[in-house]
Amino acid sequence: MQLQNKKILLGISGGIAAYKTPDLVRKLTAQGATVRVVVTASAKEFVSPLSLQAVSGHIVHDSLLDPAAEAAMGHIELAKWADILLLAPATANLLAKLTVGLADDLLTTLCLATRAPLVIAPAMNQQMWQAAATQQNMSVLTARGIDFIGPASGAQACGDTGYGRMSEPEDIVEHLCKCTAAKTLPDLSATRVLITAGPTQEALDPVRYISNHSSGKMGYALAHAAQQAGAEVVLISGPTTLNVSPGITKIDVVSAEQMHNAVMGQIQQCDIFIATAAVADYRASSVADNKIKKKDEELTLTFVKNPDILKTVANLPSPPFTVGFAAESQNVEHYARSKLHNKKLNMIAANNISTAGLGFNSDHNALHVIWPDGEQHLPAQPKVQLAGELLSVVATQFKKKTSK
Ligand code: C5P
Repeated sequence: MQLQNKKILLGISGGIAAYKTPDLVRKLTAQGATVRVVVTASAKEFVSPLSLQAVSGHIVHDSLLDPAAEAAMGHIELAKWADILLLAPATANLLAKLTVGLADDLLTTLCLATRAPLVIAPAMNQQMWQAAATQQNMSVLTARGIDFIGPASGAQACGDTGYGRMSEPEDIVEHLCKCTAAKTLPDLSATRVLITAGPTQEALDPVRYISNHSSGKMGYALAHAAQQAGAEVVLISGPTTLNVSPGITKIDVVSAEQMHNAVMGQIQQCDIFIATAAVADYRASSVADNKIKKKDEELTLTFVKNPDILKTVANLPSPPFTVGFAAESQNVEHYARSKLHNKKLNMIAANNISTAGLGFNSDHNALHVIWPDGEQHLPAQPKVQLAGELLSVVATQFKKKTSK
């Protein structure tokens, strides 16, 4: 009964996966939750409100302007009632409305009117999921700190195969159980946190560069978690498609040298430095003034080493509490421990990038956090949630060190 006494408002939008929601309601109530259901007009084409009423034990809400429903429990009251607002399935249309803040029906109005955290299980055709507009909406919503589960990959009702299936009801319930069990964020008020995120791009000529697959999601999630914990946050980011919420100071850079200069300009004013960026180790020894022309069968370029930003910071005369990341594909713990020692870090967060579905360019990750006299494993989970857990570990060790 991990959801005992939790009040969950389930918002159902119009996708075929809506047929799974009576089962979802039963599984939520089996964990002790009280569930009230809101359906959009199109959701009613896929699932019967009467079934949802039977399994939830409450009338199903579907209209903003229904006097009888408003008299029973007004929409603002419903928004205040919820501990969690779960949107499952959330269609591409619903995600788009949330991104711009529309309130043209009961469900979207509740999304704006509630203070409860949103947990969203998207479900749509795989091509609609991949569409640039949907992905852009996802990055805006993720940047707001909204928690997503799925979509899962597999065969779709329309005959396509790919990402877009709603996560299974048992996975959604498990996710909610974990979230509600998750520790609350540490208090980082009056603490200044500097974070690097994303890839760097190293120019070869006016049109080409070398880079890597870092999405920046982990660094951005940490920046949001730190801000929510009360810290003053500066995020120095390589090129990504992500947004930050107002209140976080973001400095955009392109190359490792620019990132190095930006960090050095901020480092004196920070208490905690977290280097999540995937900084290119090398840059071209010279950037061609003009486009390199296709000529010979082979092309040789020479590279020089980029500054190691993390190592430079950790070796300053009075460094901040310095946290590095180690993305490794083998001997993860061994390499992480040697980086912790060689770069003189206070802490390192290691992850195995060879694990499918985790790490680079994924929404999920698992970390093995190591510091000189301790370690902690943070299991696979959405990066938004993992960021909160990592921040708690960082805050505990930072406070121990500064109280000495
Ligand atoms: O040595 P390696 O590149 O594997 O170390 C990874 C850690 O060092 C990450 O935290 C990364 O952000 C940081 N780093 C850096 N500057 C570099 C290379 C890596 O800050 N030039």
